[in-house]
Amino acid sequence: MSGERKKLVETVKLRKYFPVSSGFFKTSHVQAVQDVSLHIYEGETLGLVGESGCGKTTYGRTLLQMYSPTSGKIIYDGQTIYDSEKNIRVDMKPYRRKMQLIFQDPSASLDPRMTVGEIIGEALDIHKLYPGKQDRADRISELLTRVGLNSEHANRFPHEFSGGQQQRIGIARALAVEPQFIVCDEPISALDVSIQSQVVNMLEDLQAQIGLTYLFIAHDLSVVRHISNRIGVMYLGCLVELGESYELCAHPIHPYSQTLLSAVPLTDPEKNRTRSRILLQGDIPSPLNPPSGCRFHTRCPYATERCAREMPQLKEHAPGHYAACHMLDAGA
Ligand SMILES: Nc1ncnc2c1ncn2[C@@H]1O[C@H](COP(=O)(O)OP(=O)(O)O)[C@@H](O)[C@H]1O
Ligand code: SF4
Ligand SMILES: [Mg+2]
Repeated sequence: MSGERKKLVETVKLRKYFPVSSGFFKTSHVQAVQDVSLHIYEGETLGLVGESGCGKTTYGRTLLQMYSPTSGKIIYDGQTIYDSEKNIRVDMKPYRRKMQLIFQDPSASLDPRMTVGEIIGEALDIHKLYPGKQDRADRISELLTRVGLNSEHANRFPHEFSGGQQQRIGIARALAVEPQFIVCDEPISALDVSIQSQVVNMLEDLQAQIGLTYLFIAHDLSVVRHISNRIGVMYLGCLVELGESYELCAHPIHPYSQTLLSAVPLTDPEKNRTRSRILLQGDIPSPLNPPSGCRFHTRCPYATERCAREMPQLKEHAPGHYAACHMLDAGA
């Protein structure tokens, strides 16, 4: 992929801390997203992976400003929409239409008291799209057809649908406002394995038809490796590696990504049997009190004294392949 491609979304040192009370008059902070810098090219799928609790959802929601950022910068389509240093906070209304979210749990994200038509229609009404009664009904039918349902489904309630169908309704709602960019937050992890690939294939078809750009969040690399152009790996709030999907999966350079990849089953059963799996020591530490220096140092097999002292910065180690690890520094 050439470096001249248009960046649709970019974050620079985006940080999100959640204040939590820790006793009388004391506040601590969950350091959920720690200065994440990355960009997403127009039309691509960027996969974002990492263990549960590492900050993927928080990153996606902060990027959409559903959560107010703690600090950093967000650029959308060349416009700075948030910059803590310059105190820029634009009105998000026009951007809300362009930037949508597909939720992890479809049943929880659909109001059980509303019909499917009302759910999709609400998204249209918020942005004053298709105000005429017939146009609105036609648009809802068209969206339902687009996601593999039909116009009769508009009069039914969410509980009348299977999990896969509910996720299709969530996707139709996101598409209703003609977005350019969608954060897909583990859109298939709550679904039966048998229908996961149908939903993924549909998202890929929609991307090809409409030219959408995706941030595709998953806790499992095997889900994103085939559909992502590039992949970012997060550990305890930090982006630790970023690269072309094939390159990152074939040659992961960060010790944490190497561990994640060693857990992904290979298609060749013989290779699967003979290769070694790297097992991490200990649990993921709490983002309330993250380790000093490199956040991975408490579990990293290569950690040195420097790792506990100094946080490594994300650096480009091969064209388009970034990682944050002292061991990769020249001469280290
Ligand atoms: N609203 C919130 N208030 C306080 N802590 C939160 C909130 N949302 C998420 N967190 C914490 O932030 C960390 C990252 O969570 P999350 O972004 O949901 O991770 P992931 O999506 O990778 O599983 C977790 O420790 C989680 O408990
Ligand atoms: S900086 Fe140190 S602790 Fe962190 S991943 Fe690299 S070698 Fe491991
Ligand atoms: Mg999540």
